[in-house]
Amino acid sequence: MDKLQITGGRPLRGEVEVSGAKNAALPCLCASLLTADAVTLENVPQLNDIGTTLRLLRQLGVKAERASQPGDRVVLEASRVESLEAPYELVKTMRASILVLGPLVARFGEARVSLPGGCAIGQRPIDQHIKGLAAMGAEISIEHGFVVARAKRLKGATIRTDMITVTGTENLLMAAVLADGLTVLENAAREPEIVDLAEMLIKMGARISGHGTDRIVIEGVSRLHGTTHRVMPDRIEAGTFLCAVGAAGGEIVLRNADPASMGATLDKLAEAGLAIECGTDWVQAGMNGRPRAVGFRTLEYPGFATDMQAQLMALNAIAEGTAVITETIFENRYMHVQELRRLGADIEIDGHTAVVKGVAGLSGATVMATDLRASASLVIAGLVADGQTTIDRIYHLDRGYEQMERKLLQLGADIRRVGGSGGQAR
Ligand code: EPZ
Repeated sequence: MDKLQITGGRPLRGEVEVSGAKNAALPCLCASLLTADAVTLENVPQLNDIGTTLRLLRQLGVKAERASQPGDRVVLEASRVESLEAPYELVKTMRASILVLGPLVARFGEARVSLPGGCAIGQRPIDQHIKGLAAMGAEISIEHGFVVARAKRLKGATIRTDMITVTGTENLLMAAVLADGLTVLENAAREPEIVDLAEMLIKMGARISGHGTDRIVIEGVSRLHGTTHRVMPDRIEAGTFLCAVGAAGGEIVLRNADPASMGATLDKLAEAGLAIECGTDWVQAGMNGRPRAVGFRTLEYPGFATDMQAQLMALNAIAEGTAVITETIFENRYMHVQELRRLGADIEIDGHTAVVKGVAGLSGATVMATDLRASASLVIAGLVADGQTTIDRIYHLDRGYEQMERKLLQLGADIRRVGGSGGQAR
């Protein structure tokens, strides 16, 4: 099993390329199921979750090939889908497999998707996905651990989800594009990744408006055609690097970034004392001396992203002052706290709130990654901790960060991967 070894204390200097967004690429890959034509996706990061999604699509009968050059291009063709079942073995490793549910029902009238099991950061049920499909006329049953959905043809409906759900909005959006009539998604998620998916669907012939607001209107069409779509840059990877330079000091430039989707993160990091400049597709950020503590609440977009919570907590661990953090999206997204404490952080948890008292320095230790963003938090802490930090179970990190250690090495960090396979699936 791979580990990362980091010797802390070096500032970060230089430039890195931001990869394509995992959480945009996943729904866009699943959208290929909505047409028999070829679909080409560009800027698809080489990550384990992407590899899992490609395996799932191939298992359904989709031709899915990652080009060798450039390595970020994937060509898919769902002209001969033979299976409508997403098996437990794949779904249990990646909850986002649920994103095949909407497209399969919309185009083939049936889907059997294994119920995703539990998850480290929270229960994460899919009741809203099911509620929306039922509202569109699908017959839904739970059979032997599978969600089974059937519909001769989905009918447009007005659907108000009980809470804002990102993949719920994405599933229902993909179901609605081929439904008969008009669908209105009230209380829709506004994340940029949803806008990216909608833009791709529109290029495939879908009729969508309001994406990026909490009310998305879709007029169903009878079929969609192929397209080429470039996946948006990963705003969470970019934010992670900014937290890293905020904690470790130095000055970096992020290329192929999308600062327009990073408002809440950029605001908080400026508040922490980073000097930040942005262009349309780049962000320059520098930090001299110790950051200031910044409190925050995680919220749905355009609020501060829950996927950035662990990373900004790591910066707060060594900041000047005390930060009060409230996690409002998931019920158990503080698994990184006990590991940060092993490095010397002073953090108290009270329900959904964490109080982080900045300490002058952290000291290296062996710690264990528990989930994707917790792993990133430990990498950031390791970059500033005195001595060596070893991070175990970094398969969590490989799910969502493309060659993190190569990029950090490029920025001057003292980091290396030891043991095991050496990185991402292709
Ligand atoms: C997406 O997960 C992201 N994953 C997550 O990123 C991200 O943390 C999350 O949105 C919130 O921004 C992908 O896009 C692949 P939700 P998702 O449905 O869609 C509850 C990462 O690190 N809920 O918006 O699963 C749910 O339990 C990952 O890249 C229901 O109760 O999140 C949660 O408390 C982690 N019933 C809240 O809503 C439902 O049917 C928001 O969840 C759906 C959701």
